[in-house]
Amino acid sequence: MQNFHDKKFLVTAGPTQEAIDPVRFISNHSTGKMGYAVAAELASRGAEVVLVSGPTQLSVPEGVMRVDVVSADDMYRECTRLWPSMTGAVMCAAVADFTPAKVSDVKIKSKNVTLELKPTRDIAAELGKAKRPDQILVGFALETDNEQANAIAKLGRKNLDLIVLNSLRDPGAGFGCDTNRITIFSRDGSPAAYPLETKQQAAVHIVDHILHHPLLV
Ligand code: CTP
Repeated sequence: MQNFHDKKFLVTAGPTQEAIDPVRFISNHSTGKMGYAVAAELASRGAEVVLVSGPTQLSVPEGVMRVDVVSADDMYRECTRLWPSMTGAVMCAAVADFTPAKVSDVKIKSKNVTLELKPTRDIAAELGKAKRPDQILVGFALETDNEQANAIAKLGRKNLDLIVLNSLRDPGAGFGCDTNRITIFSRDGSPAAYPLETKQQAAVHIVDHILHHPLLV
């Protein structure tokens, strides 16, 4: 069913890579599968989808426009540029939390490695600050402990409308797996918990929650 006709969604996916020098970078284990599944599901329901993706091995889902980025800063710039024209955004990317304070132009000699890091900008929180009352913002919380409390705190702190929790403690969930076990929290109402399922099935549930959110009906 094409129930997202005339709606535009921004989806972020994958890891970011933070350059240390011309040879090395800081990154994480994200493969982008969850974000690509969400982008594909939104597009299959008729949404216009822009997928801002860090480096992944995945191909662009049918009907989706992909914007390739490398660093957290690149992702921040693309997302803040696109956000005013969007109905909503789903922030699936595993953005690096820290980046080298300065990037060396030359390969750093292994004897001299002392890395000074600075925090990256929180893209979801920035979109949350700029959010209009007619826009819907969805984030993820990847937690290892205190899962529910951390997810609910992030929902408030980043001004999100929905947050999708996945715990790294669940076998079969998280980075690299084809499956996930999600719980979706909204600002009001009780959380919706789903069993272990494929990332495509999890994407269907996430997109259903967006569709039925009071902001879109
Ligand atoms: N996120 C983002 N920009 C960042 C960090 C996170 O847009 N610089 C988004 C993620 O895409 C996700 C949500 O914020 O939708 C939560 O990310 P997570 O890594 O779980 O949380 P952090 O804000 O990094 O908090 P912490 O490291 O304290 O758990």
